[in-house]
Amino acid sequence: MKFLLILSVAIGLIPAPVEYSPKTCHGSLKKAVAQLEPWQQQEAYRLTISKNRVKIEALTPEGEFRAQKTLEQLRALGELPLGTIFDYPRLRHRGLMIDESRSFKGMDFLKKQMDAMALLKLNVLHLHLDDSAGWRIESEAYPDLTAKTAFRKGYTYHEWEAGNYRFTTADDPEGYGGYYTKEDLKELVAYAAERFITIIPEIEMPGHSMEVGYAYPEVLCQHPNGRLHTGAWDLCPGNEATFRLLETVLGEVMDIFPSPFIHIGGDEATMKTWSQCVNCRKRMEEGGMTDVKELQGYLVRRIEAFVRSHGRRIIGWDEILETGVPEGAVVQSWRGVEGGRKASALGYDYIMSPNSHCYYNYYQDLIRKEPKAVGELVSLRFTYGYEPLEEGMEPEHLLGVQANLWTELIPTPEHAEYMLYPRLFALAETAWSPASAKEYKGFRKRARALLDVFRTRGYRTFDMDTESDLARSGLQRFPPEGEPIPLDD
Ligand code: ACM
Ligand code: ZN
Repeated sequence: MKFLLILSVAIGLIPAPVEYSPKTCHGSLKKAVAQLEPWQQQEAYRLTISKNRVKIEALTPEGEFRAQKTLEQLRALGELPLGTIFDYPRLRHRGLMIDESRSFKGMDFLKKQMDAMALLKLNVLHLHLDDSAGWRIESEAYPDLTAKTAFRKGYTYHEWEAGNYRFTTADDPEGYGGYYTKEDLKELVAYAAERFITIIPEIEMPGHSMEVGYAYPEVLCQHPNGRLHTGAWDLCPGNEATFRLLETVLGEVMDIFPSPFIHIGGDEATMKTWSQCVNCRKRMEEGGMTDVKELQGYLVRRIEAFVRSHGRRIIGWDEILETGVPEGAVVQSWRGVEGGRKASALGYDYIMSPNSHCYYNYYQDLIRKEPKAVGELVSLRFTYGYEPLEEGMEPEHLLGVQANLWTELIPTPEHAEYMLYPRLFALAETAWSPASAKEYKGFRKRARALLDVFRTRGYRTFDMDTESDLARSGLQRFPPEGEPIPLDD
């Protein structure tokens, strides 16, 4: 085992393969993968490189595709080692989330990132398609979602915030924004499918939804004096109009996206207006609820049932654990790893994307040398060191890992790529390669070489050669609450 391990990291591939042997291996692939899970068999492949021939063995077109990407990467690295690579994934959900609401990057950007994902054997693109800063997906039934909120005053998120959250229309030359038409999204789905990537759409609810209330005030909470709570960030869970809108939009979303999973957000609802709303109060009374928090559980359960009735499963951010998770729902841990631990203990499927390790909108190096980012230091080394399966956690319920790129502070495609590469290489290896094969020094060398390939292909990446000693050390600075993050090491 150890022997194979050392050899496997000796070739330049990211993610590192399960096995590399300089000898040619014979025998049936079917037999070699017999003990693996069906989803692993589906992606397994064997690539044999001899002096004048390359042979790919796989049980499915997906396996064959993974092998081709291995070959493509080795060729791009200028390295075609003689011998046999035998490979299959460790985890089935290997994801990247891109926030298209706070800044809108568009078709070419997403396609380019899917090319990168395919090269890294990532297979889930989670699109955060709406948030208070803009709705980005065409709806036939609710056309004002895009007509009224896909464009805003303020190029950056913070300009928009400083200007008091004003929206505008597509014809405003000073407006910023955009959205995907259904045709665009079908094109993206097809592009993803060719690369064996599933696009998981996220329709955020009930928090982070100011734009929905702006376009359709009927989903807002209503004060006993008749006034609507305009400007609220939450939808009203007491109101049938809210469910009509959400279910109709989700129906449209499910028509476009074949994904077995539909993300419904669920994070950070402020719940501020709920206690003062006639409809929320009525809903609570009828349901025997005593805490406004239970309204979130009510909404999640109802939406889950709707999504399930269409043969899909919901994913929700880990807040959904606080109000009773419906059976079959998937929990996505983001506030550290706690949500994953709890979901595992309760027997739910879970995805790990802890902000401590997998938020690539966080600093990757010292504050003074980096563009403004978010709080903690998530260096290449630190994110590489992430092990999603802690002792005591249920491996069969761990669907996978995911990097998240929130874009409040990332206004351009170039900046987004700078935050993603090389850190996404680390995530890919965590997701695909055997945990026992991970070793940072070797990975860093491979990442450095692959980064050159990415640059040649037009990605604007972070420069590993300028990494500070602190980032290289892999230390993570978690200053005590309230204390500023050190500017230097
Ligand atoms: C999140 O980062 N609010 C899921
Ligand atoms: Zn309400």
